[in-house]
Amino acid sequence: MPGVYRPQEDSFLLAQALREAGGARDARVLDFCTGTGFLAVTAAQLGAASVTAVDIATRAVLTARFNARTRGLPVRVLRGGLDAAARTGPFDVVLSNPPYVPHGGGRADPRWDAGPDGRSVLDPLCDELSNLLSVKGFALVVHSGFSGVDETLGRLRGGGLKAAVVARQRIPFGPVLQSRVGYLQHAQLADRDTTNEEVVVIRADRTRSRGTVDCALCEG
Ligand SMILES: C[S@@+](CC[C@H](N)C(=O)[O-])C[C@H]1O[C@@H](n2cnc3c(N)ncnc32)[C@H](O)[C@@H]1O
Repeated sequence: MPGVYRPQEDSFLLAQALREAGGARDARVLDFCTGTGFLAVTAAQLGAASVTAVDIATRAVLTARFNARTRGLPVRVLRGGLDAAARTGPFDVVLSNPPYVPHGGGRADPRWDAGPDGRSVLDPLCDELSNLLSVKGFALVVHSGFSGVDETLGRLRGGGLKAAVVARQRIPFGPVLQSRVGYLQHAQLADRDTTNEEVVVIRADRTRSRGTVDCALCEG
């Protein structure tokens, strides 16, 4: 549908990271911020046991439902945010390509704009992930280097998850980032010569049951 984010480099990098992680066979999968449902459809095609897709935009929900149904894939598509996702978990695999573009003011586009530092959706997602994931579940989240890779890793680790960058790709600025060059420079996120961004996929793993206390004597 018009107005729904078209899958692009970040979507494809995340889909590739899912394949490299071994796919989604027999897993309960969440695609948070699904847009067209591209990642939800990919997970279903890779043999997921169930796929739940969540997006805040009605047009995205309708588009994702259409894309799943016309492919004969059983994807449950819900309209909402993290609350809707949390009500339907836990999940063995969480995928997310959230909005992450730093936005300096004016009219924001909820498909990609995510506050002054690009983290208005990322931060709550990072904080909620340990509750969304089943024991031994993992998440793959994609975002730009402009939105703070160290912040994401720190938040995930602070929430008791193991976290690391598993894929990186440099891509030239598209029209959205071209329109933000002035703000990125003003916010000291980019310098005058920057014409591309690094997109990263971060993997986060639940390594133990919730409530388990860290204890050096108990390790091993
Ligand atoms: C960058 S697009 C990604 C779409 C798709 N996952 C892909 O890779 O092609 C981000 C999507 O997140 C949705 N969105 C924005 N804020 C959200 C929120 N708080 N909760 C759920 N979805 C949100 C937007 O409507 C948009 O469809």
